[in-house]
Amino acid sequence: VGSAAAWLLAGCGDGNTRDAYSTVGTLDFANPLRIPPLAPATRSSDGARVFELAAAEGSTQFLPDRPTPTWGYNGSYLGPTLRATRGEKVRIAVVNRLPEATSVHWHGMHLPAGMDGGPHQMVAPGGTWTPEWVVNQPAATLWYHPHPHGATEQQVNRGLAGLFLVEDPEAAPDGLPRDYGRDDFPVVVQDRNFAKDGSFHDGPRALTGLTGNSILVNGTWNPHLAVSTEAVRLRLLNASSARSYSFGFDDGRGFAVVASDGGLLAAPAAVDRVLLSPGERAEVVVRFAPGERVELRSFPHELGMTTALANGAGGNDTLSILQFRAAARLSPSPELPAALPGPGAPDLSAIAATRTFILNGRHINGRQLDHNRIDTVVGAGTTEIWNVSNTHNQPHNFHIHDVRFRILDIDGAPPPPELAGLKDTVFLPVRASARLAVPFGNYTDAAMPYMYHCHLLWHEDEGMMGQFTVVEPGQTGSAPPAAVQHQ
Ligand code: C2O
Ligand code: CU
Repeated sequence: VGSAAAWLLAGCGDGNTRDAYSTVGTLDFANPLRIPPLAPATRSSDGARVFELAAAEGSTQFLPDRPTPTWGYNGSYLGPTLRATRGEKVRIAVVNRLPEATSVHWHGMHLPAGMDGGPHQMVAPGGTWTPEWVVNQPAATLWYHPHPHGATEQQVNRGLAGLFLVEDPEAAPDGLPRDYGRDDFPVVVQDRNFAKDGSFHDGPRALTGLTGNSILVNGTWNPHLAVSTEAVRLRLLNASSARSYSFGFDDGRGFAVVASDGGLLAAPAAVDRVLLSPGERAEVVVRFAPGERVELRSFPHELGMTTALANGAGGNDTLSILQFRAAARLSPSPELPAALPGPGAPDLSAIAATRTFILNGRHINGRQLDHNRIDTVVGAGTTEIWNVSNTHNQPHNFHIHDVRFRILDIDGAPPPPELAGLKDTVFLPVRASARLAVPFGNYTDAAMPYMYHCHLLWHEDEGMMGQFTVVEPGQTGSAPPAAVQHQ
């Protein structure tokens, strides 16, 4: 704690950092927001939608006058947006052209554990890994990113991340914008620091991990988005390592949250802020007037830490994220529907088990990740209650692979409407607790685990992670998993 605290007090200026900050008033929003392209796909003879994702080193121009060495998928920074329809089989050739091993995890996806892309599905340099599965879950904004144990923060921060959109035409409500790149936009938010030579600069490290004061949106620094429709759907993803964001608009206007991590809510939730910790998503719909300029910002928010620690973790920052420039004439957009096809009350009629997960230090229930130990065994198709408590003096969050859980309460109170839908990651500020109803899927594999962990990437790298297997109900015990390297 001593040296981390010294970093915090030193703030962001260590003499090597370039002044490219996104604190309010420092930007002119000169750069058009990059929109990640939709990944091209081919159709295989068995009907699968086939993608290729090649991870490689590159160089990206974020700043006006000097390039930044970066990593990306099918490009120099981030990756294309994968899109598939519910019921469709997908197959993805993951090619590793990096100088080190990586993996690609499909965050939020329900799929067999061997296809999950966690630390047990490493891809060696020069190797290819080709997972396939049938997409079977509600329409949602999912994402993909590396998951190599101990190197996730570094690989994500270099640029490896992208969106995976699940669509379901049978449950697509009228009135919800859905024209990608026209009225439906990805907003992938990351914080970085730039060194004087233009490279990413990895310091200072707060207790939460690496925080930066320069915001990139879809890999664009200092961005604006030209708006041509009255209503716009924004798919917000916090793809940062450590920073949480309380998103809102500079003029305080309200907006509607229509979806959380795992899909649409049961009804639009009217808010003026939405808080996302690393890994979380929210889909929001905001309306604009002709000709106006409005700024999306992140506002100070409660982390439960002392002021000095919260300063270091970015909790007290006001940041410019993205400026919207509405055209002088906007195409009309319908009003949002009053109801959406999200879930009703969670089914608690048959709870198979209740478990407690204590987050403290870099441990979950006093343990750190051991690849050869299964921490938790659950029954396929059962629902469990997971009580997750942060008893630590630092914020954490909790992500569970494969599932979409429901938050029953946070610190004993029902969740706000925007957190009452399908979730895979829950934020736990200092000393917060959440009670989750977790319905497990039907892909059983007693030897291959899924992961649960803190999604603050440095904490995850430090071992704040456990493993669970899904087995036939009644079956117990698991063989230790065999780590596989794909050549
Ligand atoms: Cu987004 Cu286990 O991760
Ligand atoms: Cu953590």
